Amino acid sequence: MWDYSEKVMDHYRNPRNVGKIDNADAIGEAGSLACGDSLKIYLKIENGIVTDAKFQTFGCGSAVASSSILTEMIIGKTVEEVKKITNKDIAEQLGGLPPEKMHCSVMGYEALEDALGNYDNLTDLDDLRDEKKAEKIVCTCFNVTENMIWDAIKQNGLKTLEDITNYTKAGGACGKCKGLIQDIIDTYYKKEESESQQSTLSPAQRILKINNIIETQISPELRKDGGDITLVDIDGNKVLVKLRGKCSGCKNSHLTLKAFVESTLRDTVDKNIDVIEVA
Ligand code: FES
Repeated sequence: MWDYSEKVMDHYRNPRNVGKIDNADAIGEAGSLACGDSLKIYLKIENGIVTDAKFQTFGCGSAVASSSILTEMIIGKTVEEVKKITNKDIAEQLGGLPPEKMHCSVMGYEALEDALGNYDNLTDLDDLRDEKKAEKIVCTCFNVTENMIWDAIKQNGLKTLEDITNYTKAGGACGKCKGLIQDIIDTYYKKEESESQQSTLSPAQRILKINNIIETQISPELRKDGGDITLVDIDGNKVLVKLRGKCSGCKNSHLTLKAFVESTLRDTVDKNIDVIEVA
């Protein structure tokens, strides 16, 4: 038996704002009946403020409680404020959820995100649906996309496969997606580590690193095609360079700068770097 907070029990026994809103300004959905639970949320938005919210859910007690408290959290708030709400906020407002039930708070967050996305794209819903279809599904058993897993890791600091299953259900049935989920976790933390290393560089270390990347990674690649590059100066995020050899005067030099030189420096040193060619 799960250990539920009083608040969860209260919202489960007396759910607020159940139902649908006719002529809703935004509707969002998450989960699916095939996966065991689903949520549909309706928003009424006037002058940028959520004036009413209702939900219909098919799911367990925590799904009902998460949806119910979510509607209370968003009514009266501006759309911009509502956009900042995460699944962690929903769980906190409920006084916590058992780890195995965190996916209910994620479902609330996803339905809200879907509704706000639809609200922002009211004029082009078909494009939005196409975009969603194009998202990469990682777990076909529960229809969980790569973005959903990435968001769950980011918002909740998830570290293990078990965490991901608790928060999104992905990996909780046939298990075929576990390798892919582990890849996403590894990629997330590698990226985070490299970003934290970048932010701790002193100005002198930063200059040395940029110079080193240019000399050991960028220049050798350009030399293979008869070109080359020299670092001229660094001014804040601006890295001034001179292209040489075949690269100099080449009609594709702009592409070389942006697609190769700048992207290499952004990946390895700082994502805000701008590379500028000087004569
Ligand atoms: S594909 Fe993810 S559990 Fe089956």
